[in-house]
Amino acid sequence: MEIKQVGVVGCGFMGSRIAQLFAKNGFTVVASDLNDSLLKKSLNAINNRLKKDIEKGKITANKKEKAVGQVRGTVNLKDLAECDLVIEAVFENMDIKKQVFSDLDKVCSPETILASNTSQLNITEIAGVTKNPSRVIGTHFFAPVQTSTLVEVVEGTLTSSEVLKTILAIVRKLGKEPLVCKDFSFGLLANRAFTAMVLEEVQMVWERVASPEDIDKALCLGYREPIGPLKLFDVLGIWQILAISEADKMKEVGSEKGRLHPLIKMMMRAGYTGGEGKKGIYDFYKDHMKD
Ligand SMILES: NC(=O)c1ccc[n+]([C@@H]2O[C@H](COP(=O)([O-])OP(=O)(O)OC[C@H]3O[C@@H](n4cnc5c(N)ncnc54)[C@H](O)[C@@H]3O)[C@@H](O)[C@H]2O)c1
Repeated sequence: MEIKQVGVVGCGFMGSRIAQLFAKNGFTVVASDLNDSLLKKSLNAINNRLKKDIEKGKITANKKEKAVGQVRGTVNLKDLAECDLVIEAVFENMDIKKQVFSDLDKVCSPETILASNTSQLNITEIAGVTKNPSRVIGTHFFAPVQTSTLVEVVEGTLTSSEVLKTILAIVRKLGKEPLVCKDFSFGLLANRAFTAMVLEEVQMVWERVASPEDIDKALCLGYREPIGPLKLFDVLGIWQILAISEADKMKEVGSEKGRLHPLIKMMMRAGYTGGEGKKGIYDFYKDHMKD
């Protein structure tokens, strides 16, 4: 199936960058959000990021103008009727996503591929609200979308092989590397594996085996980790890990390992949550654990 026109529902942090990526690669994009002011903000952000790309020599002024011209904003889902592929990037909430897919099912043609950018919600469950669940798939673009080459392509139980094939080809056309994953893997591939690694390191800090720096350094030197999982944990913030490590969610993958670690609880209560401008586990160790 040929994809020419792409719809993006929810133009926040991820949606706006996904819309930009498709436009930059020559697709016509219809971007939708809840109201005009959110849309305006998102379209301005696309324009500004592409302007910066010119300064960095990543795109010519002509190509930038063309890309910006490829994106049209709307607050009406009906304007996505002509799209060959629609990517949903609304809030990570099952009820909201189900409502969006149910609405898209009504306005889009039966052939339109409906994709969700969800990080962990189940694709088969989302697809259940549509008349044709075989056309529903997950496309988990990794952040930062501009530079990360990873897209986890999530197969629901009912996703057709034709839809999967089309999406793999599109992801490659965008210059990304698609990795196929079943939708029953909570945290998909990278987040699930990364979380397990971070939680083991947190346990090692808890046991005072060594400092966070040295545990990270061991992985960097021994296993060619680029910056160290705990360092990344501090940069991303605790919430990124919590979303995947909640005990009841981990039960879905048959593991109790994700139960919230006492050290993470202590850090949260003391405000060491990591993320922009916040102290994380490196500081917590220095301030409260090192004797
Ligand atoms: N933030 C990340 O690093 C990241 C990485 C990979 C995947 N994801 C996933 O991508 C999705 C979007 O995350 P985000 O961080 O961009 O969220 P966000 O809050 O930045 O953006 C969500 C956007 O969706 C809009 N929206 C909400 N309901 C809508 C509706 N019914 N119709 C149209 N628009 C609607 C909101 O107004 C907002 O602009 C989530 O499923 C998230 O799990 C996020």
